[in-house]
Amino acid sequence: MHKLRWLLNVLLLVCTPLAFADHQRSSTPWQTLSGDRPLVIARGGFSGLFPDSSSIAYGFAKEVSISNAIMWCDVQLTKDAAGVCFPDLNLGNASTIDQVYKNRSKTYPVNGVPIHGWFPVDFSFHDLEIVFLKQNLNFRAPYYDGTYPILTANKVGKLNPRQMWLNIQHDVFYSQHYLSMRNFVISITKSRHVKYISSPEVDFLKSIATKFRSRATKLVFRFLEVDQTEPTTNQTYGSLLKNLTYIKTFASGVLVPKSYIWPVEDLYLQPSTSLVLDAHKEGLEVFTSDFMNDVPFAYNYSYDPVSEYLSFVDNANFSVDGVLSDNPVTPSAAFDCYSHMGANLSQQALTTYKTTLKLTSILSFETEKAKVLIISSEGASGDFPGCTDLAYKKAVSDGADIIDCPVQMTSDGVPICLGSINLLDRTMVANSEFSNLSSSFPELQSGNGIYTFSLTWSQIKSLRQPTGANHYFHQSTSSRLSKLSSSRVQLHASAETDSHYTTTIDSCITRSNIRESGCYKEFTLQPIEYLKIKYT
Ligand SMILES: *[C@@H]1O[C@H](CO)[C@@H](O)[C@H](O)[C@H]1NC(C)=O
Ligand SMILES: *[C@@H]1O[C@H](CO)[C@@H](O)[C@H](O)[C@H]1NC(C)=O
Ligand SMILES: *[C@@H]1O[C@H](CO)[C@@H](O)[C@H](O)[C@H]1NC(C)=O
Ligand SMILES: *[C@@H]1O[C@H](CO)[C@@H](O)[C@H](O)[C@H]1NC(C)=O
Ligand SMILES: *[C@@H]1O[C@H](CO)[C@@H](O)[C@H](O)[C@H]1NC(C)=O
Ligand SMILES: *[C@@H]1O[C@H](CO)[C@@H](O)[C@H](O)[C@H]1NC(C)=O
Ligand SMILES: *[C@@H]1O[C@H](CO)[C@@H](O)[C@H](O)[C@H]1NC(C)=O
Ligand SMILES: *[C@@H]1O[C@H](CO)[C@@H](O)[C@H](O)[C@H]1NC(C)=O
Repeated sequence: MHKLRWLLNVLLLVCTPLAFADHQRSSTPWQTLSGDRPLVIARGGFSGLFPDSSSIAYGFAKEVSISNAIMWCDVQLTKDAAGVCFPDLNLGNASTIDQVYKNRSKTYPVNGVPIHGWFPVDFSFHDLEIVFLKQNLNFRAPYYDGTYPILTANKVGKLNPRQMWLNIQHDVFYSQHYLSMRNFVISITKSRHVKYISSPEVDFLKSIATKFRSRATKLVFRFLEVDQTEPTTNQTYGSLLKNLTYIKTFASGVLVPKSYIWPVEDLYLQPSTSLVLDAHKEGLEVFTSDFMNDVPFAYNYSYDPVSEYLSFVDNANFSVDGVLSDNPVTPSAAFDCYSHMGANLSQQALTTYKTTLKLTSILSFETEKAKVLIISSEGASGDFPGCTDLAYKKAVSDGADIIDCPVQMTSDGVPICLGSINLLDRTMVANSEFSNLSSSFPELQSGNGIYTFSLTWSQIKSLRQPTGANHYFHQSTSSRLSKLSSSRVQLHASAETDSHYTTTIDSCITRSNIRESGCYKEFTLQPIEYLKIKYT
């Protein structure tokens, strides 16, 4: 908890200097339907850190959001019709129920597909009082698992007097078990401020549309994957998307996965669709789901979730009306601190880093301007395969002070930049005609490898890079880098060898017996040396 608070404080500090720079912002209003700042919707509270729908998740989300966040609750109904907040129809997914009621799992059809698990319809709320929540994504910390109880939606509304968002994912299933979501939402909205009710089922929203027409609660149609079938109309979500006029007859907004707006291919961002503009034209608000800081997202954002959020709300053409996030502090900071900072959106990340650097120097009580060099690691290797021309160009345009080159030698003596001496690590050599060139050097690594010194430069150039299966990236040679690095940018080359080693390799590869141990020992025992190559 201490660590979290520290992080939080730093985050707020980072926010402050930028907030002061208000005069730098353009006066562009938000391009949301209402013109207001987009909403932050906290999925199950701060579910990126704590078990989804736990009191600590909701409490923390409320504490750290700079502006109001709406608390999202996935409603499930128990046998005795208690509405609880739980992220999945299968209680086995995010709770300790599999340990508590070992022999009470069942198999039911859900939208025609048999699912095995623990279903809320088989348990009373009293039964669930001894069941505790846990993280349902296995890459998240299990630290808070098994401590927090399942809460009723009513309790969540009481914990958090701010607005709630109820998501009704499976009305058809509950109807088959004689439980009414309609009755539940009508009853809870009498005592709690429910701002939005969403569902991926057309008939459910239609069944409550007239009831809510004159109320403050808005209805939102949730789109699932394009080729999935909507269970009550038997149309795919993709075909329903073409009929927004129809959606507008029973909902005032839509909730869509990120890719509906910014499609990705091989994790590279494609041009945006016109969905937001089309929906706004119909008078529909647009909310976007699937924002998580800890899963891969498009390389174009350089792993910076702030720039991802900003691409949805702060671009030249549109802004979505809200984002559904597992880490609500990030969009909250993005909207309140980093938005509308001018036309240089691609410079945003750099601005953030520079501010952080400045902040670091303030924190360490340095009065002088921080002298911190930014050194790339294999170029912008987070955005493109490391040591490729694209990666180096991006590193230079991102403002790196020094670009680096881990030097390897080819069999014809060309020094090239590659993050590993073993081509198997960084290229698709295994699927190439050179896959028979593997050899074993226990001094280098255990097992076989296909080493740079076994192939010529022109052979290595013909290999594909592993990321982005359909892309071909040019590998850089150290001489090619010199063209790229301007006088401002320095090139820093490292090799596991000095020039003596290079010639040793050279003579090694020209000998017929490359395994000759004397030759190889000399090769690996050289201390690591860094070569500084100067360019003008
Ligand atoms: C939830 O449970 C279902 C059925 O057991 C399973 O198919 C699904 O992958 C689970 N989801 C998660 C997020 O674990
Ligand atoms: C489940 O196990 C409990 C005891 O652990 C037992 O009392 C109960 O009868 C079992 N139920 C079924 C359906 O097997
Ligand atoms: C849904 O549509 C598919 C083909 O589009 C059809 O085969 C199926 O029978 C339909 N199901 C219902 C319940 O209407
Ligand atoms: C939109 O959907 C409604 C209801 O399913 C249908 O009557 C109408 O023909 C559809 N319009 C278009 C353009 O597909
Ligand atoms: C994302 O990056 C790729 C690779 O540089 C580029 O081709 C694409 O146009 C970028 N996408 C957007 C939307 O800028
Ligand atoms: C905005 O619209 C223009 C014209 O349609 C297009 O060229 C540009 O790529 C769009 N920008 C974004 C961020 O979608
Ligand atoms: C954008 O960045 C360029 C170069 O970094 C700078 O010259 C220009 O003034 C900036 N424009 C705005 C609107 O900040
Ligand atoms: C590897 O395979 C290529 C053709 O695919 C062949 O020309 C070459 O002689 C082979 N090399 C060895 C060492 O077997």
